[in-house]
Amino acid sequence: MRDERIARDARAAQYVALDVPGTFSVRLPLGIWTARDGEFSVLFQEWGDRTRRLAHLPIGEPLSCIGPLGNQFSAPSEGQRATIVAGGLGVAAFWLLARDLKAARAHTTIVLGARSKLSIVGRDELAALGFDIDICTDDGSEGFHGSVVDRVRSRPPSDVLYGCGPPGMLRALCRYANEAGVECQISMEENFGCSLGTCWGCVVPVRRGCPQGTGYPKAPREIRDYDFARVCADGTVFRASDVLWLH
Ligand SMILES: Cc1cc2nc3c(=O)[nH]c(=O)nc-3n(C[C@H](O)[C@H](O)[C@H](O)COP(=O)(O)OP(=O)(O)OC[C@H]3O[C@@H](n4cnc5c(N)ncnc54)[C@H](O)[C@@H]3O)c2cc1C
Ligand code: FES
Repeated sequence: MRDERIARDARAAQYVALDVPGTFSVRLPLGIWTARDGEFSVLFQEWGDRTRRLAHLPIGEPLSCIGPLGNQFSAPSEGQRATIVAGGLGVAAFWLLARDLKAARAHTTIVLGARSKLSIVGRDELAALGFDIDICTDDGSEGFHGSVVDRVRSRPPSDVLYGCGPPGMLRALCRYANEAGVECQISMEENFGCSLGTCWGCVVPVRRGCPQGTGYPKAPREIRDYDFARVCADGTVFRASDVLWLH
């Protein structure tokens, strides 16, 4: 997609909210994948109405797009070893981060997982940045046989982990990082309404005292010792040690 400002300003883990023509729905949030030369790209699957219509839009069709939205991954300190942990389309959060880590000459490993070798996405673009990609597949059809979190456990420890992927994967990654005492930042997804921080449709529970908590007031007889954060505006990036997985 062509947009000079979004391509220039996009930071790792930020997203755009697209008004897909022909749908009567809220804007579609999609992570910004690559961004350069006045253009940016997104990586998506045809999940339902909005993504299906987006996939079939004629080339050159004008599209209303808000962005870049959300916070961003923080860079590792000098000399720290970083591991990017991407599950499926969660890889969309990582091209910009990988580019920045490459430019900073940070010691970086990329662990990329998918159900099978046929569903691996993003490998070529990351390899083109000069990274060796450690592939994992659930069915063992390529690379390590198992999940990306199993793979991270089996590798030498890193100083910082960056994760994006399905909720089960992120939950397992946070548990590993918190138990091992490793710094970990995750980019989360929720069902978004406004994408702008106003509808409160995307909140997740976070540790009380977490800087991204909103101080959401308790109901009169509610007993709650945690806070809420809006994934769309306070995130999408959170520290593993701040996110609570209540279910
Ligand atoms: C910040 C953010 C960034 C995102 N980035 C991307 C991205 O880079 N690429 C991408 O493909 N998607 C991404 N998504 C997810 C995407 O916005 C949703 O999948 C969206 O609901 C698709 O809209 P739709 O109208 O096509 O399908 P919907 O009608 O909303 O969904 C159709 C069906 O698919 C199911 N479904 C939707 N999303 C998922 C999912 N992620 N996993 C499993 N089942 C699902 C729904 O439950 C429903 O049954 C992102 C979401 C957020 C919040
Ligand atoms: S989607 Fe409306 S507040 Fe997050």
